[in-house]
Amino acid sequence: MNLKSSEKYAPAAFEDLVFPSPTVERTIRDYKDGHTTENLLLYGPPGTGKSTIARLIPALVEPNYCPGDVTVYHCGIFRKVEELQNKIGKQIPLYANGDRRYLILEEVDNLNVHAMQMLKSIMDIGQKVDALFVLTTNEVDNVSKPVIDRCEKVYVGLTSPEHWLSRARSIIQQETGNLLSDDQLLQIISTAKGSGRQTVKAIQKYLARRARHQVAQISPASARQKEDVV
Ligand SMILES: Nc1ncnc2c1ncn2[C@@H]1O[C@H](COP(=O)(O)OP(=O)(O)OP(=O)(O)O)[C@@H](O)[C@H]1O
Ligand SMILES: [Mg+2]
Repeated sequence: MNLKSSEKYAPAAFEDLVFPSPTVERTIRDYKDGHTTENLLLYGPPGTGKSTIARLIPALVEPNYCPGDVTVYHCGIFRKVEELQNKIGKQIPLYANGDRRYLILEEVDNLNVHAMQMLKSIMDIGQKVDALFVLTTNEVDNVSKPVIDRCEKVYVGLTSPEHWLSRARSIIQQETGNLLSDDQLLQIISTAKGSGRQTVKAIQKYLARRARHQVAQISPASARQKEDVV
């Protein structure tokens, strides 16, 4: 197991997501159930699952989506408005072949005023060619009002440890075969202070400690076995 990989427990399906509120769950379920294909703006504190949800949207909307129809942009790379125009603006009209395109714009608050205006126009063209924009940010106040107005705006807030019980139980059971009680799980994850990223780290630390403990327990026996063989 690669304990350093923070992606190891990234949700692969709707059922793996831990929702901080019924509103977030309902909104994301609407994409899954085909009730909406509106642009989506996910905002909130670090580590709550915004990027995770954004990356799952294409698969929820179209289980047979083509990965080539999804592009992820980190908005920090757009230093000048021309770069946004070249990377996205010029591509958008070419998308008019009937396939839905997914554009995930991470940390959209990084766009400057001119780039925000450009994004507003790009989103309007995007609507004509069936492009679905999913934007993420920690700083929603730095996103322009017209861009916000073109999206379903969803606050992805901190979770409580109780929200994580089922997901934590399933990860630990998958890794160890053990079914832990609520109290045992809460002991493991209650230090995470509402961040999903920190919760997953707490689970990984528990699994690492457990693995080390097991190695320590079996090594005298293995050492004896070695001696027997020699
Ligand atoms: N709501 C959640 N449900 C399930 N897993 C989650 C959730 N939130 C976070 N995680 C776990 O934490 C990792 C990091 O989450 P993610 O990058 O989506 O957070 P973020 O909200 O985009 O953070 P940031 O604001 O720092 O960009 C994910 O790979 C996943 O393993
Ligand atoms: Mg993110």
